[in-house]
Amino acid sequence: MTYCQPHRDDDSALLEGLRRLRSCAILEMDGEGMIHGSIAGVDALYGYSGEELRGRSFSCLFSRADQERNMPGMLLARVREQGVEQSACPLVRKDGTRFRAALTLERVMPEAGGERVLMVVRDATETFQNQKRMRQAQESAMRAQRMDAFGKLSFDLAHDFNNLLSVIVNSLDMLAARRAGDEGTRRILELAHSAVERGARLNRQMLLFGRGHALVPQRSQINTLLEASLGLYRQVCGDAVEVVLDLGAELPEVELDAGQLEAALLNLLGNSRDAMRGAGTVVLRTRAETRTPAPGGADARFVRVTVGDSGPGIGQDIRDTVFEPFFTTKPEGEGSGLGLSQVYGFAAQSGGMAEIGTSALGGADVSMYFPAARTAAG
Ligand SMILES: Nc1ncnc2c1ncn2[C@@H]1O[C@H](COP(=O)(O)OP(=O)(O)OP(=O)(O)O)[C@@H](O)[C@H]1O
Ligand SMILES: [Mg+2]
Repeated sequence: MTYCQPHRDDDSALLEGLRRLRSCAILEMDGEGMIHGSIAGVDALYGYSGEELRGRSFSCLFSRADQERNMPGMLLARVREQGVEQSACPLVRKDGTRFRAALTLERVMPEAGGERVLMVVRDATETFQNQKRMRQAQESAMRAQRMDAFGKLSFDLAHDFNNLLSVIVNSLDMLAARRAGDEGTRRILELAHSAVERGARLNRQMLLFGRGHALVPQRSQINTLLEASLGLYRQVCGDAVEVVLDLGAELPEVELDAGQLEAALLNLLGNSRDAMRGAGTVVLRTRAETRTPAPGGADARFVRVTVGDSGPGIGQDIRDTVFEPFFTTKPEGEGSGLGLSQVYGFAAQSGGMAEIGTSALGGADVSMYFPAARTAAG
């Protein structure tokens, strides 16, 4: 007897075919959707035996919501009209779990027994999830491109603006020297100086977002920085806001510009205070986390610093926009819309990222991630 070893390619094609068959079911129904029999795969796909389904309406495979909007009836109506109908929707297994299904319904006319509809159901969960992942990756690439473009624009604007501010400051200093004894002029010049000071502050935030601000990174332990500034945070938030530190244990050290971290946290705390209208709770949380910074990239260790509050939160509709420079929902003159863009720019320039979420307190949660500093071991 000759024993014939199957070819490896044939083997894998067979296995792939079997895998596909396991994720496929074929049902035979009448024109009203009553199941007459199953040709393949219902037990593997639905957890029902062919016998259990016989005599039942195929609508039992649909979710309650789809049954209520008469999805099964509409599919049958389209098959009656067109002869064939394809659709993608969630279906429900016997144990109540759902899966994404690709359906093909086709009207067939057997010689005896009247109209029949064959329904081929394929478990499309994997395809659906792959498509969803691809969409998310495309969206995040577009978002990154948009933020990059804003960054370049901010950088150019801030540069020009900086030159203008320097000219104004020099001119004010010259005027002050000429009118040294004039009290009225001194007061006017003071006003002009404080406006220039505010302009310079805004400009620094724009530069930071545009990655044009030179950072001075130092190896630091974030928990120590937060503990040292707790008094300042409480002062910024006011007496009616409870500021809580929730510090993670054994955090790795990070290389960051401590002054800019302080500025970012003050921006976040100011936002929380404003959103809570001056009263509520703010939690400053630190944790060590492993993340994949870019799709397809390697995992890396980060320290995550989150400011969460009990305010109204940041709606899904604006979560993609709040990091953009000059986006503000505050009344004219009250917000420049540069606070969160400083947070975003600082985190990105430090090799990390910033993210918006929902706090356990029900309000907004804004996180910055900073890469763990290399240890002596590498
Ligand atoms: N903690 C928060 N809760 C609710 N909404 C928030 C919160 N933080 C930010 N936002 C929303 O994001 C917008 C942008 O915030 P951002 O800090 O960039 O600018 P701003 O606070 O409006 O102005 P400023 O430049 O003075 O900080 C805010 O106007 C607000 O709508
Ligand atoms: Mg702000």
